[in-house]
Amino acid sequence: MIDLHSHILPGLDDGSPDLAMSLEMARLAVADGTTHMACTPHVMPGVYENATPNIAEAVQALELELYRAAIPLTLYVGADVHLAPDLPDRLRLGTVPTLNGSRYFLFEPPHHILPPRLEDFAARLIGAGFVPILTHPERLTWIKANYDVIERLNTLGCLIQLTADSVTGAFGRTALYYSEKLLDEGRVDIVASDTHGASRRRPGLSQAVVAIANRCGEDEAYNMAVKRPDAILQDRPLVPIGKQSARKSGGSSAGRFGGLGRLFKSGAL
Ligand SMILES: [Fe+2]
Repeated sequence: MIDLHSHILPGLDDGSPDLAMSLEMARLAVADGTTHMACTPHVMPGVYENATPNIAEAVQALELELYRAAIPLTLYVGADVHLAPDLPDRLRLGTVPTLNGSRYFLFEPPHHILPPRLEDFAARLIGAGFVPILTHPERLTWIKANYDVIERLNTLGCLIQLTADSVTGAFGRTALYYSEKLLDEGRVDIVASDTHGASRRRPGLSQAVVAIANRCGEDEAYNMAVKRPDAILQDRPLVPIGKQSARKSGGSSAGRFGGLGRLFKSGAL
């Protein structure tokens, strides 16, 4: 499986504090069936001053340590990008990294406050040739009163990323409710771990993938954990699932768990 959202790089944000933790996170991810992972530290002006050069350098350093420790996890450069007025310019200049240099980037809106004109801002980013992937909308506290904003962002062309722990219920009932609503409405493009450590918010997608397969069918679970993340890393065009015509919901009728083996073994690509 391919995990496009992780805070595995040591010392860059509120994720892994040191190399030992990063290696343990990588081991856990691999044991759970993750083969490829985007390293996406927060980029938040004034709080986490990360940018492409220091993120790329940290990815290279961790790649070397993974090689030394014989942990088969392929890493990619990325970022968990927070709202900033100069974001379109910084993306264009390449100082804020997209996912593996593609048109796609993780876009994390403020957790507790809906910024005014968020849709206009997203439209500007899309107009500039980028595709924002809205991170875990199901966890935003303002989703309750503003679900229509999420719908419109999706219609505009933003992709949607669910967090694995939301789908399994680990983030509580509200996050689970909106995960299932978004899944049932066919709006979810990818699932990712957003891992921050080896115990709390640990890596791994398999439990969420099983839950998604039960709800939406195995094919869609595969699309969210392998096929679309792969297309994103390769910068292939993707139409947000929420913009496509009606998609089936409900579990597949036969072999609900049987086909999932392909997700959990190494080399799913
Ligand atoms: Fe994150």
